[in-house]
Amino acid sequence: MEKQHQHHRGSWGSSLGFLMAAIGSAVGLGNLWGFPFKMGANGGFAFLLVYIVLTVAVGFAMLMAEMAIGRKTGRSAVGAFRQLDSRHPEVGYMGVISGTIVVSYYCVLGGLCLRYCLGFFTEMFGGMGFLGHGEEFFQTFTASPWSMVLCTAAFAVITGSILMGGVSGGIEKFSTVAMPALFVMLIALVVYISRQPGAEQGYAFMFTPDWDYLKENFFSVVSTAAGQMFFSLSLAMGIMVAYGSYLKKDENIPRDALLICGADTIIALLAGCLVIPAAFAFVGEDAYMSGVKLLFVTMHQVFFNIGGRFGCFLGFIFFLTVSIAAITSSVSLLEVSVSFGVDRRIDKHKAPRRKTIIAVCTILVFLLAVPVALDALGGAADATPLGLLQQLFPALALKGWNESFINAYSFISEGFLMPLGALLMSLYIGYKYKTTLITNECGIRRGRVLDLCYRFIVPVAMLVVLYGQLRDFLG
Ligand code: PHE
Repeated sequence: MEKQHQHHRGSWGSSLGFLMAAIGSAVGLGNLWGFPFKMGANGGFAFLLVYIVLTVAVGFAMLMAEMAIGRKTGRSAVGAFRQLDSRHPEVGYMGVISGTIVVSYYCVLGGLCLRYCLGFFTEMFGGMGFLGHGEEFFQTFTASPWSMVLCTAAFAVITGSILMGGVSGGIEKFSTVAMPALFVMLIALVVYISRQPGAEQGYAFMFTPDWDYLKENFFSVVSTAAGQMFFSLSLAMGIMVAYGSYLKKDENIPRDALLICGADTIIALLAGCLVIPAAFAFVGEDAYMSGVKLLFVTMHQVFFNIGGRFGCFLGFIFFLTVSIAAITSSVSLLEVSVSFGVDRRIDKHKAPRRKTIIAVCTILVFLLAVPVALDALGGAADATPLGLLQQLFPALALKGWNESFINAYSFISEGFLMPLGALLMSLYIGYKYKTTLITNECGIRRGRVLDLCYRFIVPVAMLVVLYGQLRDFLG
């Protein structure tokens, strides 16, 4: 019986396939528009060192823990934590909630990536009016409700369809083709940009170590780096628990966790060697260097300034790369809620009905995404539903989220639930389930250092992140 249910849940076809899916989840918009600028603005090489130390001491340990918990229990987030302690499944629920919120705004951003990809593609075959001033296009497009909703829907449908193929037939198959393709395209673009005059300014911005900055702002640098690292590794949302639950017993978890951390960091650095130098070389120092506008205004302008069919071709390749990164991440995010639904049915001894659950989750996520798509990513000021809400309840007018729905969503999920979930998770592991739960599952003999991580290092890092985020958003 148990076996049959496990069969219904699905499993990875191969170790490589799992790795590609997990790296696909980790590599996303966070790597492309978050990391490069944060690194440059927070001490350059000095930031990188802090980031790497945190990745090893905090990220690696948590990644391993999530995968081990998933495989040991054979359940996704909620079921897994319930199995470990029936009174405390809340960490799992927090993951499902924040994953669902993140995937909803991911659909809006991913939809925009698709639109830009298509735009540069059609432009290669004759002007369709896509090229022009980057900012103008962005503002007009994001202010057009139908276009935004349509793109969002398209992205949600793509995400849902990949999940429909199943764990190994859908997620794994797609990632195994898409991730190597992403890597090759990224390298090609990095090489092209490195040969352009002006690119060196970008490298200087990213890599010049600023030790004084680190000394003076140690607290905020650590908070920024740890927050970025958690988001980038897809931690604390139950993703790695779900992905781990599809793992075979002989899979080497520590090795996989190391590879995922390494690949994610390398791709973030490569992305930095692409977007920042490109912005310096083709748009100039005043260009937007981070966030939504780095991707959709500055990069649009970069390829426009490169010009001609070649510029459009490069633009197409760039946005294809970004779209792939976004799709593999959103697939993993949606899988959190899908696997939650499937596990619930299996636990009640009902047929899993994975496809129906996927359809329902996709629609729910789309509906949740509509407000984000409709307020022009903050461009529509007071006319937004959020603006109206704030007029009714002035207490909602907090600094961090009164600009747009996307800010509000990201505050609730990555700003609050994620660090809190990670904090609780590490405390549970360190003090309740005990580190041996993880070390036994991973086949590690000595777990003293890991024990220190779960009991002390991770909780402290998460408190720092939580404090930093709350201060930024509420201050
Ligand atoms: N890790 C992805 C990124 O870097 C985003 C993500 C976060 C995906 C959380 C899944 C879960 O963009």
